[in-house]
Parts: sequence; structure tokens; C-alpha cells
Amino acid sequence: MGEATVIPGRTIPQLPGDYFQNPHEVHDALRAEGPAREVRMPGGLKVWFVTRYDEVKAALNAPGVSKNVGGRVTHDALAEHIVYMDPPHHTRLRRLVTKPFTARRVEKMRARIEEITAELLAELADGDVVDLLEAFAFPLPVNVICELLGIPIDNRDEFREWSNQVLTFGTPEQVRAATAGMAAFLHQHVAKVQAAEPDDTFFSALVHATDSGDLLSREELVSMAFLLLVAGHETTVNLIGNAVLALLRNPDQLRILRERPELIPASTDEFLRLEGSINIASFRYTTEPLELGEVTVPAGELLMVSLLAANRDPERFEDPGRLDVTRSAQGHVGFGHGIHYCLGAPLARLEFDVALTRLLERFPNLELAAEPETLVWRESTLIRGLHTLPVRLG
Ligand code: HEM
Repeated sequence: MGEATVIPGRTIPQLPGDYFQNPHEVHDALRAEGPAREVRMPGGLKVWFVTRYDEVKAALNAPGVSKNVGGRVTHDALAEHIVYMDPPHHTRLRRLVTKPFTARRVEKMRARIEEITAELLAELADGDVVDLLEAFAFPLPVNVICELLGIPIDNRDEFREWSNQVLTFGTPEQVRAATAGMAAFLHQHVAKVQAAEPDDTFFSALVHATDSGDLLSREELVSMAFLLLVAGHETTVNLIGNAVLALLRNPDQLRILRERPELIPASTDEFLRLEGSINIASFRYTTEPLELGEVTVPAGELLMVSLLAANRDPERFEDPGRLDVTRSAQGHVGFGHGIHYCLGAPLARLEFDVALTRLLERFPNLELAAEPETLVWRESTLIRGLHTLPVRLG
């Protein structure tokens, strides 16, 4: 990090240009200096960066920290969603959405997730070198979201095409067109489900959920459907990718999971801890002075709350850089913390469990097809994930 980082109050250090390739080193240096400190991001933006476990949790749940950006983060028609809301608006929506997300309903999706996974794996051939993200991890969650939203089979190709455009950042025109297409489609879809008799599927339950007579409006349902797609997609893709990379780099740990696949569900926490797919939690700012340990962040400051950094805090997790699939990694913040804690966590766990179990089963000699040092991480403050993960399907 260079000397500038150890002169608090005098110089605001700039994170190194290769921060995204090497975030853990940077986090270790920042964490050693204090729970939070001012830095400039690689693009020059001045922020307060929070790295220690206790203070990350405090910042994620402090009433004096706001997420309300007034719909500035995405297409207007789809902007009204709970990630960027504060109580009481957030509380109302969150309660209505949590209702249909029961453990029972998620578990009922297991059979379909198994089928989707089997179909994707059947398309891969022994011995081939593929980008595992594109060939396997990427198509899985979008298919699961289609199931979740009850998108009719006939519309799925179109829906997947829009998702790809929106999520893989096509040109601005493509993104605008795909977002508008998806919004129009979702409006019609919601209207149909609203007009139909309620059934036991997730989306029907969401559409018809009430809380003391309060219902989600059509606009809110469209935004919610879009949010489920965005929030549940790249996060799942990259958790699978990061976990497979970690296993291929740690053959002793891979051997443990191959010999005892029943450990896979519990090991999900360790993968979320070691290299979860969200580095810095979504946009937050202080509305009043915020005390984080010995540091006070003034009001009106942007906060970068790093889940990745908290999950490697040596005060909380022993030998944090080491993958240990048998450790108890509970308490990690890979799904966030507090009122915005990931609503899709049970579904994400299920998808991860099925994906990893079946992938390891299907390809007993899976190996990396590139030198680990040549792999390139995405330059995103939010998503921690690789551009590509070349593997040989042994
Ligand atoms: C491995 C996969 C996933 C990871 C690592 C993950 C992580 C997270 C994190 C860290 C947050 C909190 C963000 C913040 O406070 O800034 C969050 C929120 C959320 N996640 Fe997930 N997520 C995953 C999968 C999913 C899935 C599959 C869904 C739904 C289909 C989903 C839906 C949501 C929603 C709706 C929120 C917003 C909750 C709120 O603001 O109250 N996530 N997720």
C-alpha cells in the first residue's frame, strides 16, 4: 500500500491500480491500520473503506447509514426495489417478500434444480477445455430464476436473452432495449398471475402475499422480479466459480469433498467466507456521524463495507487465507448482515450444493486449464469473480 497509508489525516491514499487482482493484500494492510479509513478508489472516488469484521457488521446495520439512492441505480421502471430502500419502506416490502420465501418452498425446487444441472452437465464432454463460468455456472441461475418466477417455457429463451444482455453489460443501447423488453414482459406476466387463482408456486405466493391486507402493487412486483434476477444471478455464478478455483488450487481439500460429498452443504459457508462473490456491499452513505471502533466517519460520506475483508479478519477467523472445508465458518458476512441480509440465501445454498456435488461427481478428474497467476478478476467493487475459468473436464 506504500507509505502514504500510515499517515492518517494527512494523505488520502489511493488504492493500487491492481486492487481488483489482489484485494486481499490491500484489505490486510487497511485492516491492520484501523477498522475504517478514507481512501481513493482506483477511479479516484473518495470513500471510507471498512475492513474489520466487527465494524463491518456494525456499519451494515447502523440506523445512521442509508441506502436510499432514490432510484438512481437502474432503469426507472425497475428501480423501486428493496436493496436501495431504508425503513419503513424497506420493512414493508421485505415482510411481503419474505412470506413466500419459505424453506419448504425453496426445498421443493430441489428436484428442478437437479434436472437443470443434469441438463447442463450433459452438454459438456469429457476431455474438453471449457470456460466453466460460461458453460455451466452462468446458465444455471437464470434457469432457476425462470422457475422461481414461473416464466412459461415458451418465453424462456427470450427471457434468458434479455438477462444476458442486461447482466453481461451489452452496449448501453442493448441494455436499454433488453431492460425495456423485460419490464414490458414482466408487466404482462404479473398481470396474468394476478388474474389467476393462487397456487402453491413461489411467484403466485408472492403476487398474492398480503400483510394485514397490504398487497404488493404491480409495479413493485415487476421490480421485485427484476431484483431477484439481478441479485440471484452473478452472485451464484461467481460463488460456484470461486469455489471451484479454490478447490482446484487446494487438491487436499478437493479430495476431502470427493471422498465425503455429504460435507458439501456445510462447506458452503467456508466458500462464502474465503472468497464470497460479493466484495463490497451495495452503496451506502452516512446520514449522521458513525462511530466504528476508534474511528468516527462524518455524516454524508460514502461507505465501502467490504464483506471480503471482514471474512478474512484474523481476529475472527483463524488462518483466514486458508481453505478448510471442515472448519465451522458460520458467522461470515458473505450474505450480508442486518436488515438487508440476503433474502435468497436458502435458494443460493441449494443451488450451490447441487451444482458442486454434481460437477465433482460428473468430472472426477476436473483440473485447471490455465496457470492460476494468469486468471483475471473482474474490475468490480461489488462482484468478486473471474472473467473466465478455463478447466479441463477430465
Ligand atoms: C451465492 C449467492 C448469493 C450471494 C453471495 C448473495 C449475497 C447477498 C448480499 C451480501 C446481500 C446484501 C447486500 C447489502 O446489504 O448491500 C444480498 C441481498 C439480497 N439478495 Fe442475495 N446473494 C446470493 C444469492 C441470491 C439469490 C439466489 C437471490 C434470489 C433469488 C438473492 C436475493 C437477494 C435480495 C432480494 C437481496 C436484498 C435484500 C434486502 O435489501 O433486504 N440473493 N445478497
